[in-house]
Amino acid sequence: QERWTLKKTVVLVGMMGAGKTAVGKALALRLGVPFLDSDAEIEEAANMTIAEIFQRDGEAFFRDRETEVIDRLLEGEHGVLSTGGGAFMAERNRDLISRKGISVWLKADLKLLWNRVKHKDTRPLLRTAHPYETLRSLYEARVPVYAEADLAVEAHQSYSIEMMT
Ligand code: S3P
Repeated sequence: QERWTLKKTVVLVGMMGAGKTAVGKALALRLGVPFLDSDAEIEEAANMTIAEIFQRDGEAFFRDRETEVIDRLLEGEHGVLSTGGGAFMAERNRDLISRKGISVWLKADLKLLWNRVKHKDTRPLLRTAHPYETLRSLYEARVPVYAEADLAVEAHQSYSIEMMT
């Protein structure tokens, strides 16, 4: 079992469905470092799902919790941090991440993302009359911002977690 010592936390950013959680878990295991997940931390602290938080308290409330959690997780032991797809959109989060972490954009094309998210009901932002169009417009707006990450990794359809473990 390897045990890396990281000088910074590796922060995975990118669209919903890119595989941030799956890749983050595998990478953390491989490096022997903690796996951190901002969405999971928010859910745990609120004792509600992300969808419930959006519904009850709204997106702005969720975004405030998200910033708090990212800030707190970046203060702790370095590891691999998987963030929600919108986290990197806020400048305050990008500032936190660039100061204390190294950002990695998990890059996937729209078709792959849609295939991964279309059957799931866990993403409140896609609960619209036209979820594909919603995903596409989020994708188009966000790609230029994700491109500001320190590194980009292509997440192909054929890419498998087994390659890393
Ligand atoms: C969001 C993505 C979700 C979650 C929330 C908002 C977004 O995380 O944080 O539903 O704005 O793209 P995943 O990227 O893990 O699905």
